[in-house]
Amino acid sequence: MTIVRTVEAARTWAADRRRSGARLALVPTMGALHAGHLAHVQAARQRADAVALSVFVNPTQFGPGEDLERYPRDLDRDGALSAAAGVDLLFAPSPRDMYPGGQTGVAVDVGAVGTVLEGKHRPTHFRGVATVVCKLLAVFVPDIATFGQKDAQQVVVVRHVVREMLLPVEIVCIPTVRDPDGLALSSRNAYLTAEQRRAAPVLRRALLEAEAMVRAGERRGAAVEEVLRAVLSSERLAQTDYALAVSAEDLRPAVVLQGRILLVAAARFGATRLLDNTCLDVGPDGVSAALP
Ligand code: PAF
Repeated sequence: MTIVRTVEAARTWAADRRRSGARLALVPTMGALHAGHLAHVQAARQRADAVALSVFVNPTQFGPGEDLERYPRDLDRDGALSAAAGVDLLFAPSPRDMYPGGQTGVAVDVGAVGTVLEGKHRPTHFRGVATVVCKLLAVFVPDIATFGQKDAQQVVVVRHVVREMLLPVEIVCIPTVRDPDGLALSSRNAYLTAEQRRAAPVLRRALLEAEAMVRAGERRGAAVEEVLRAVLSSERLAQTDYALAVSAEDLRPAVVLQGRILLVAAARFGATRLLDNTCLDVGPDGVSAALP
């Protein structure tokens, strides 16, 4: 595995691969790699000849008072895990490399899909995500790029940006990887105290209970949301930020559940906010699991 720190070196590596006819995959990450990220690498390997993984804690997607400073960083560990997983190139740029004009330079406005759900709690978050993703796609010009289902709104936002900016890349959504008790893997799980960690799988339990209702025939979004909220509020350590049924296409409220829908929940455990979701295809003949 090659490690490069500059945009120029990454661009040269990607251009060489493309010139030799290789199909190129990009796995964008903020590092602190876990089994969820390694599932991205595996999926990328199956779909492409060369896999690049970026490690960049992107400052513009953090709001004031968020965890930018304390976000876990360990490039040696990320490098070892990436090499073992079969990554060909690890790209670890500095903020100055990614934002040559400073962080108040050019930014990508994502419109309405970025202002709901997470966007209400983190108003500048998706502008930062969309901006850095566009930059990474401009450096690598990959055939595919992977994004995780856990951050379902991010997948919807990135697809929207790719469509609107006419970017020639396929966005591949990778299913959430979970701990045995159901908690979705996230680098932020490391912030939880032992007691909060025990409480956190309530997110998954709430979503499974809501999903069971939909599978049993419930089609009223409000009824499903009520159950989501009730299960979440049964856990003393969970403070619900939102628990909603929305369209997986555009994140609008799903008043009647039909087509591809997302049940999404965000809750705080102390100072740590965790997200989870389930995506379902609700058709006239039944309900099946789907991806955003
Ligand atoms: O999901 C993440 O880790 C980040 O939001 C991403 C896509 C790498 C952009 O910084």
